Amino acid sequence: MKTNVIYYEDCIENIPKRIPKESIDLVIADPPFGIKFTGKGAQYNRKDELVVAGYQEVTAGDYEAFSKAWIQAIFPVLKTTGSAYIFSGWNNLKAILQAIDDVGFITINHIIWKYQFGVFTKRKYVTSHYHILFVVKNSKKYYFNKIEHYPEDVWEIKREYLPGEKKNSTKLPDKLVEKILLYSSKEGDLVLDPFLGNGTTAAACLKLNRRYIGFEINQHAKEVIDTRLAKVKENCL
Ligand SMILES: C[S@@+](CC[C@H](N)C(=O)[O-])C[C@H]1O[C@@H](n2cnc3c(N)ncnc32)[C@H](O)[C@@H]1O
Repeated sequence: MKTNVIYYEDCIENIPKRIPKESIDLVIADPPFGIKFTGKGAQYNRKDELVVAGYQEVTAGDYEAFSKAWIQAIFPVLKTTGSAYIFSGWNNLKAILQAIDDVGFITINHIIWKYQFGVFTKRKYVTSHYHILFVVKNSKKYYFNKIEHYPEDVWEIKREYLPGEKKNSTKLPDKLVEKILLYSSKEGDLVLDPFLGNGTTAAACLKLNRRYIGFEINQHAKEVIDTRLAKVKENCL
């Protein structure tokens, strides 16, 4: 199997074709939100020309089936000692939790990521948190590197401000992905990200000496991902 590779094709169909069973140590999955998200426009306080076109959304009506399909696809490729971190906004959390249960994953933690830059609202509270489901196949065998004495399940990590930089519509902070890698993988481990976006997981893997396999259906994201990985390689050498 090739590692440190990115497939710009549909993730769900290709996961079983590209990845042997029980070969992945860690999955980091930040799927499309299912809320007609484009990431463009003034509400996100960014210039449209700096946002890469082609972000692939999933319609609300398809979200349940979509979630079930990709969560089912990652289950067999994950090692018994492995774990998955699955991101979800509150809107479609129900579909994700249902799919996690249906597929047979065991939930170890329900982490809250608290961020700044929530979208301004007039008649409701500003959403400024995200859910991260930390799930495993085997609750007795999964790898966990307890770095801190008292690691809490609310993570306050700032979104990055990247003025003038071209980006895919949404990006996880490097610090957040690095935290997951440090807690739930070792050097040399193989990490799968089925929704690579800007390539945050791949870049963090290069930085921390993990191997990666990524999928991103949006071909336009390639330029952003290549630039990001080239920068990390330059700094690592
Ligand atoms: C929330 S973003 C991921 C952002 C990423 N975590 C980062 O830090 O940059 C979700 C990504 O999934 C991609 N996507 C949607 N459907 C997909 C599919 N079936 N296969 C692969 N990627 C898909 C979207 O184009 C989008 O870039």
